[in-house]
Amino acid sequence: MERKHYKQEINMTEALIARINELISHYPEGKQKSALLPVLHEVQDAHNNWLSIELQDKVAEILQIKPIEVYEVVTFYTMFNQKPIGKYMFEFCQTSCCCLRGAEDLMDYTSEKLGIKMGETTPDGMFTIAGVECLGACGYAPMMQLGDFYKEKLTEEKIDQIIADCRDDKIILHDK
Ligand code: FES
Repeated sequence: MERKHYKQEINMTEALIARINELISHYPEGKQKSALLPVLHEVQDAHNNWLSIELQDKVAEILQIKPIEVYEVVTFYTMFNQKPIGKYMFEFCQTSCCCLRGAEDLMDYTSEKLGIKMGETTPDGMFTIAGVECLGACGYAPMMQLGDFYKEKLTEEKIDQIIADCRDDKIILHDK
């Protein structure tokens, strides 16, 4: 199956390069590859929460590693996005505890409310919804991740409120 190629404007600002160099400095000389995960998070955060092939190649160049070493990490972890996503990405836990507490019904509810299927983005670029594996907050099921934060013990009413808060620009996505 042919994969769609998405274009992305790459903007490696001085501040971003300085942050990357700082992350690399946490590891011994010649072991800069060890900084790959935190570097990918920083680069993704600075690029509308997704990583094009060109951007992954740039990371490989900076870390002086092979592009495939970046691709294999990006394609393994669901927290890295390989195509443009909405400003607000609802990542619903779809593992057992959350499912037992109604996650599937909530995903259906959200899907219907936003008019998109799981894995899709609303035409206005505001919302993406996705299912992910256990996020380690099973005691607060059903839950989802939104940016750096967890939204727990979800109900349809809470979903309505979260969507309204997103639309009103009242949601903080990052903790830094
Ligand atoms: S099963 Fe949902 S957070 Fe663990």
